[in-house]
Amino acid sequence: MENVYSWWQQGVVYQIYPRSFMDSNGDGVGDLSGIRQRLDYLQWLGVDALWLSPIYPSPMADFGYDIANYVDIEPVFGSLQDFDALLHDVHQRHMKMILDFVPNHTSDEHAWFVASRASRESEKRDWYIWRDPAADGGPPNNWTSFFGGSAWEFDAASGQYYLHMFDVKQPDLNWRNPLVRQAMYDVMRFWLDRGVDGFRVDVIWMMIKDTQFRDNPERPDWKPGDPPYARQEGIYTENQPEVHDVIREMRSLVDSYGEKVFIGEIYLPLPQLMEYYGEMLDEVHLPFNFQFVQLANWHARDIRASVDAYETILPEGAWPNWVLGNHDRSRIATRIGRAQSRVAQMLLLTLRGTPTCYYGDELGMEDVAVPPELMHDPQGKDNPIHSRDPERSPMQWNADSGAGFCADGVTPWLPLSEDYRHFNVEREQQEERSYLTLVQNLLTLRRQIPALHVGSYASIDVASEECFVYVREHAGKRYVVALNCSNADQALSLPFKEGTIMLSASLERTGPIALEDFVLPANDGYLIEIAD
Ligand code: GLC
Repeated sequence: MENVYSWWQQGVVYQIYPRSFMDSNGDGVGDLSGIRQRLDYLQWLGVDALWLSPIYPSPMADFGYDIANYVDIEPVFGSLQDFDALLHDVHQRHMKMILDFVPNHTSDEHAWFVASRASRESEKRDWYIWRDPAADGGPPNNWTSFFGGSAWEFDAASGQYYLHMFDVKQPDLNWRNPLVRQAMYDVMRFWLDRGVDGFRVDVIWMMIKDTQFRDNPERPDWKPGDPPYARQEGIYTENQPEVHDVIREMRSLVDSYGEKVFIGEIYLPLPQLMEYYGEMLDEVHLPFNFQFVQLANWHARDIRASVDAYETILPEGAWPNWVLGNHDRSRIATRIGRAQSRVAQMLLLTLRGTPTCYYGDELGMEDVAVPPELMHDPQGKDNPIHSRDPERSPMQWNADSGAGFCADGVTPWLPLSEDYRHFNVEREQQEERSYLTLVQNLLTLRRQIPALHVGSYASIDVASEECFVYVREHAGKRYVVALNCSNADQALSLPFKEGTIMLSASLERTGPIALEDFVLPANDGYLIEIAD
């Protein structure tokens, strides 16, 4: 029965931000050999697939999301040989590797853009999106960049503007040009031929733009100081109908390599998000589900509503997935507090569908305050509060002066957290009730218990407004997950008699429990095997 599910349905994805994971060569920036040195840890932790944020040659205007060459490795991270060695070792451990694929834009230093910019007659001119100035000489329309300001940059030499939905050093490719598609499909083949197990595709819903270049509506509630990406409704820059054709082409290419995974980064409301599975389930396997990342209130009622809404709207045969954090959003332990974020980990790892864990979240890592002079992220250029540097701080391996991320005396590219001496892998591995022990136990149970990785999901009504309770079931075995999303004890009465607590978020209780009447402590959650 079990093998009807593929590895990416049963497994757990772990996101590595390579600059911040492990520095093996003393330059303060993480690298591929560093990741390779830490594979024992990842295997011990119990994750199945590693997604690496971009590792290709890049001037690092957007820390790798500005790619200057899709078919090589950035020297800061290593070489193609280092990559092959890493992939080999990942596979040896029966883990998978997923690469970040960034098709919407290149670096302005990519040879394609250099050629495109050289003249209006260049054969690569149409590989990017060039437009004449508006009548007043200004930008062709009102489109704004996700990082702030106009999305158009004037090129004085050729007298036209090019489009960049992100940084000025990230010109958007013209995906309506069949040559661009072919070139990018060759890139995908290059990595699939090398043996990678799939892709996470960057801003996949933005790849195609309106042919008439109509103005986007401004969001009336947006004010200066709000996140720049929230300024306009991207009705002409995002989610254009033709993008689905491109995604289907990519998916069929990926499928021709066997059992690979194809994940799309998509920030859209649920009905539109669902369209990215494809009418025939022939688009992305997993359109990232960012509901937890975007939830305005971490309240049991809202959490349940978002899980139930998602479960209800999922098309038949579509596989769910859950994300708590990533390199673009504040860390979960910072958003909801470290105590409550243990409950969030139990939620993430006991729901139906593929979870994605962001590196360091398993330690309870928090955002790190980065002084303005040390900030790097282009999203923070107009307003440092929107910088994503705080959630990208170096992984905390041990209590040494470089936190085990870099050698003694080396300055890491972003500052270390102040509390790394308490919250680090080495220490938490030894502590019976640490955050890491919790996550490792959750991952172990998720793997052992079929109901958790492939079972059904149903939420149940409970009297306490502060608790979210659901049942996972498979082959006659039932488990109930009861989460107290508040910092006060809650009395619960469940429609079952007896059970056994397999794991509690606090790691303070296991064993028999009478389910008709019990108290779930503040910031705690129970995973219970039901006896009756
Ligand atoms: C995605 C990435 C983000 C990047 C942007 C542009 O949203 O996750 O880090 O800045 O795309 O590539």
